[in-house]
Amino acid sequence: MSAETQRRAYLDAIGIEVWTRRSTAEPPPVADDNAATTTDWEQLRQLVADCKRCPLHESRTQTVFGVGSRNAQLMIIGEAPGAEEDRRGEPFVGRAGKLLDEMLRAIGFSRSDVFIANVLKCRPPNNRDPSAEEAGMCRRHLERQVELLQPMLVLAVGRIAAHHLLHTDAPLGQLRGRTHSLNDGKLPLIVTYHPAYLLRSPTQKRKAWEDLCTVRKLLTELTP
Ligand code: URA
Repeated sequence: MSAETQRRAYLDAIGIEVWTRRSTAEPPPVADDNAATTTDWEQLRQLVADCKRCPLHESRTQTVFGVGSRNAQLMIIGEAPGAEEDRRGEPFVGRAGKLLDEMLRAIGFSRSDVFIANVLKCRPPNNRDPSAEEAGMCRRHLERQVELLQPMLVLAVGRIAAHHLLHTDAPLGQLRGRTHSLNDGKLPLIVTYHPAYLLRSPTQKRKAWEDLCTVRKLLTELTP
């Protein structure tokens, strides 16, 4: 049995659910220069920095590529940069970011142990939700980040990231509490609440803690 077949069998055995793509309002990613499969980290960073595919490039201060270890086993995916992230060029550096740091620390990780990225690399004005078109234009950038990183596990924080990654519009409360997967079942994905939501609704922190414990447990199980 190949290592990959073994890994798939293991993921099956621990009950990882495989989602199939449903049709969505997002346009398909544009091919040409948009993070082809040969693009390396530096080329991808440059592509993102130069990107003018959607109107968000007009209002951004800078792109927010992502931060962390390129050998990370855990990839955190959020929604889009806010004002502070747009100013500093790094994801999750505002108040929500501080809470994310604490959440990570609670399961033994620092920011530099994981890789943190967003669905969108540019800030939507007035912190509005990303549009389906913007997310579609940016999709290939995130997909290439996942391909290059090859994490063991993805943690989607918040409704927008979960919906984008899983092609669903199910309420977040229904998406958390189980293991999803990306890449035809090869990459497990856990959903939890966005730290900005937890700042507004601290009573939900207990559930977020349960999700983080699942992340810790799965990583231990998946690490050879
Ligand atoms: N919220 C996000 O989803 N991402 C960030 O980078 C900051 C806030």
